[in-house]
Amino acid sequence: MRSLRDTSLALLALLAADPTAAAEGEQIYVKACAMCHNAMPPKLGDKKAWEPRLQQGKEALVATVIKGKGAMPPKAGNPALSEKDIEAAVDYMLNQVK
Ligand code: HEC
Repeated sequence: MRSLRDTSLALLALLAADPTAAAEGEQIYVKACAMCHNAMPPKLGDKKAWEPRLQQGKEALVATVIKGKGAMPPKAGNPALSEKDIEAAVDYMLNQVK
């Protein structure tokens, strides 16, 4: 976990250098979501897995991440994330399956 933390610090530095919302979503995704969503379903960019979820709408998905679901802990296990952070990460994920 230590190396993940180091990575997130580096990414936070990147984030400060590029404050656009899309970049922010990607950085949050990489830091807080990729370890699961690059490895297990629903995987990033897997249209089949995301299709039924897209129909719930973004707000419902953000609420689900805040609450947690199945193997995903509340706030993806990262209580420091704000609702806005989670929304940016969800935006990034949904953009990969559009
Ligand atoms: C510990 C692993 C883990 C992490 C970290 C994680 N997820 Fe998940 N996520 C899951 C799993 C597993 C599911 C499938 C849950 C289910 O359908 O039972 C899921 C489902 C989802 C869904 C779909 C919810 C639904 O209603 O089906 C969204 C959206 C999502 N994750 C977003 C995120 C975001 C954004 C982050 C980072 C802030 C994140 N996840 C971090 C494991 C994780």
